[in-house]
Amino acid sequence: MNKKIEKIAVLTSGGDAPGMNPCIRAVVRTALANGLSVAGVQGGYQGLIQGNFELMGARDVGGILQRGGTILQTARSTEFREPQGQMKAIRQLNNERIDGLVVIGGDGSIAGAQKLVEQGVDVIAIPASIDNDIYGSDMCIGVDTALNTIVDAIDKLRDTASSHNRAFIVETMGRLSGYLAIHAGIVVGAEMVLIPEIPFTVDEIASVVDNAYLRGKNHAIIVAAEGIHPSVNELAALIDQRNLGFQLRVSILGHIQRGGRPTAFDRMLASRMGHTAVEFMMSGKKGVMTGLDGSVIKPIPFVDVCARKKKMNMHYIEMARTLAK
Ligand code: ADP
Ligand code: F6P
Repeated sequence: MNKKIEKIAVLTSGGDAPGMNPCIRAVVRTALANGLSVAGVQGGYQGLIQGNFELMGARDVGGILQRGGTILQTARSTEFREPQGQMKAIRQLNNERIDGLVVIGGDGSIAGAQKLVEQGVDVIAIPASIDNDIYGSDMCIGVDTALNTIVDAIDKLRDTASSHNRAFIVETMGRLSGYLAIHAGIVVGAEMVLIPEIPFTVDEIASVVDNAYLRGKNHAIIVAAEGIHPSVNELAALIDQRNLGFQLRVSILGHIQRGGRPTAFDRMLASRMGHTAVEFMMSGKKGVMTGLDGSVIKPIPFVDVCARKKKMNMHYIEMARTLAK
């Protein structure tokens, strides 16, 4: 028989992602609609260790659907990485008589959630990270908004690039994943995309930039993921030595990619995943993530999420090259 669930807690952890707020809203309102009480944890796993719980009502999540960031605050907690930190968190959950925890965060947060599951805590996770590097979900909350922010920024940079006959190397976030860079590269029509998953040489980049110049283009855009080696700034110095036709500039988009109003897609994904997470919890599921598979949300075991790596769609790399000609 399933354990009776009366009270749940929800937290956001790791890097913030646009759509975390609509997700919190969906968790709280679905729980309340099912007669559960919900405690919000302020400050991710660090807040859990410190016992920062606050009961949430339907009005507490009003007016947040359109807001970026997270009203629950988030954190990267070193203390929680250690077993002592995890035990403190579990004691706080027990003191508050929490029957189940919903964790909204990235792959690190899910690795942390698995540690709690191993100690008998019932956790459901929701993938939220602009990196889109989590195994078991086609999309994570925040990715679509971040991509739209990148596209908007590169469209603007192109105005300057073409007015000044310049080449731009634009760095996108993504940690070790090239997802944002390759997708942005395709939809802005970049001359080249550099990602950690595919090796490249300075000669190749120089020849793409030079060819664009010789073909009469008035600018060139190279989208580079932050995880590449050498780094974007080191690369720029190496390319500049070649005296190519274009002047070269670097633009590092940085944390603007994490903020802003979530797109309709992210609000919908966040609402569906938040709603489904509570349904999973009530049906007795535990240690699973709400994973988007095509158009369906499925329960994906944490053990798989933690052990396996999300694959890059190699077809897109070929496509980006063909369309840039
Ligand atoms: P994200 O969830 O966005 O990937 P992090 O990698 O920073 O962000 O992870 C968020 C938090 O999850 C970390 O600050 C840490 O508290 C916890 N965490 C990450 N990995 C582990 C782990 N292997 N064991 C325990 N806790 C972890
Ligand atoms: O995981 C999201 C992310 O924005 C990565 O793309 C990036 O590498 C990292 O977080 C930056 O972390 P911080 O905000 O702690 O500098």
